[in-house]
Amino acid sequence: MRRIIVAGNWKMNKTRKETEDFFKALKPLVEGKDKVEMVIGVPFTNLETAVREAGNVKIAAQNMNPKESGAYTGEISPLMLKDLGVEYVILGHSERREYYKESNEFINEKVKSALSHDLKPILCFGETLEQREGNITEKVVEEQIREGLKDITKEQMANVVLAYEPVWAIGTGKTATSLQAQEVHAFIRNLLTDMFGKEVAENVTVQYGGSMKPENALELMSQTDIDGGLIGGAALDPSSFAKLVEAGIQAL
Ligand code: 13P
Repeated sequence: MRRIIVAGNWKMNKTRKETEDFFKALKPLVEGKDKVEMVIGVPFTNLETAVREAGNVKIAAQNMNPKESGAYTGEISPLMLKDLGVEYVILGHSERREYYKESNEFINEKVKSALSHDLKPILCFGETLEQREGNITEKVVEEQIREGLKDITKEQMANVVLAYEPVWAIGTGKTATSLQAQEVHAFIRNLLTDMFGKEVAENVTVQYGGSMKPENALELMSQTDIDGGLIGGAALDPSSFAKLVEAGIQAL
């Protein structure tokens, strides 16, 4: 059966010292909680510190250039991430799609590159408020998934994590209701069945993200097709993150 993954996305927050303090405080709170996979996505500058301090938590980068090396000023390659002991990489986050104009095609290149370098992509997608109100949520999500996972094999899907993050729910305090989220997650599961067959679809972890917090995490994570969360604001504090992990365990 698929795994529940509780993942934090710190975005552009915390220094190295704050990273160290976070993991020192978190460690005793999540000891032995390995029934769910715990992941934290930290800024590039904190990766080395995080990998060293993480204990049973896996570390993710928040972006990656698909190329191994070359004249790409300011970019970070999969080889550099592997060298630091990073296991996951968050790709296609809506903030990167919106502010840095990342296309589905470019994100697909990154997903393929991550997999070929033995890094597990957490592929993010989701509709904006305008798209939801225009009743094109499914169309948008389908396009992002089909294009983001273009040329990915059934075998490779064992190392892919998906994260449905409705843009209107990110950082707004406005969470999708569990029903709204489950509806889209069921649609995603069917789409994955169509693309890769039932067995693969049943085994892919599909997280929900968007204003998830300790108060609403259990209800969201308990939905049939929701397999954990990708959490921004509420993952910045160790006791809050530990509560989210607890919710993930209860949802099992
Ligand atoms: P918030 O939990 O702060 O809404 O952010 C969600 C998110 O974007 C995680 O990637």
